[in-house]
Amino acid sequence: MSNETSNKPEEMASFFNKRANGYEEHMKETVESFDKYYISVSNSIDNTQDVIEILDIGCGTGLEIEGILKKAPNARITCIDMSEGMLDLLKEKYKGYMNQLNIITGSYVELPFGEENYDYVVSVMTMHHWKYNEKKEIYIKIKNALKNGGKYIEGDYYVALERERELLDEYHKEINKYKLSRENFYHLDIPFAIETQKRLFNEVGFNQFEIVWKIEEQIICVME
Ligand SMILES: C[S@@+](CC[C@H](N)C(=O)[O-])C[C@H]1O[C@@H](n2cnc3c(N)ncnc32)[C@H](O)[C@@H]1O
Repeated sequence: MSNETSNKPEEMASFFNKRANGYEEHMKETVESFDKYYISVSNSIDNTQDVIEILDIGCGTGLEIEGILKKAPNARITCIDMSEGMLDLLKEKYKGYMNQLNIITGSYVELPFGEENYDYVVSVMTMHHWKYNEKKEIYIKIKNALKNGGKYIEGDYYVALERERELLDEYHKEINKYKLSRENFYHLDIPFAIETQKRLFNEVGFNQFEIVWKIEEQIICVME
């Protein structure tokens, strides 16, 4: 295989299927204050014994689910991911909770989320792959899927505006160079600057925006 071919961006599901086994170790090494970070994802979830409804998009192996279950032990969690490999590990890890988890293999870009179904929607480390209008479509689905008073919690990494532009340029170059179709999903990172992100949240009608965690580029924010 030539270099050119081997540098071609990988399709998303295949990328994570291949790396599923070392995924959690990799995250422990790369996410600053890993344990606190994943627990903090759930800080905005009320402590409750009620059967609340949560949607986790791009749930992977379920790193954030442990914290969610501590706050809401009876929650029903719909977990969506397109990587079978990641979901197999999630199923093994949470085998005692299978009656509470609704695990769906598929793309959260394409799957419907329904209307006013969820108390919380959560996404962690998965939203940095989408361009502005693609992300907007996903946020509109999330907004519609939340019950009145529901919250959207997003953990991801963000960059400075200048870096956002550079990465977007590089992204377009890759798309053109390899003639990649947007119908397939490729593992390419195009994180936003927080300013861009806030503008987008506002546009889709999330009027309340709070940053609840920030270490270097890693941010957790909560929207209502
Ligand atoms: C970096 S992992 C994050 C997993 C988990 N949320 C965490 O923080 O450990 C990103 C996950 O998003 C999933 N993903 C990316 N795009 C997706 C899409 N369009 N639909 C469903 N899952 C997607 C990947 O398969 C992968 O498991």
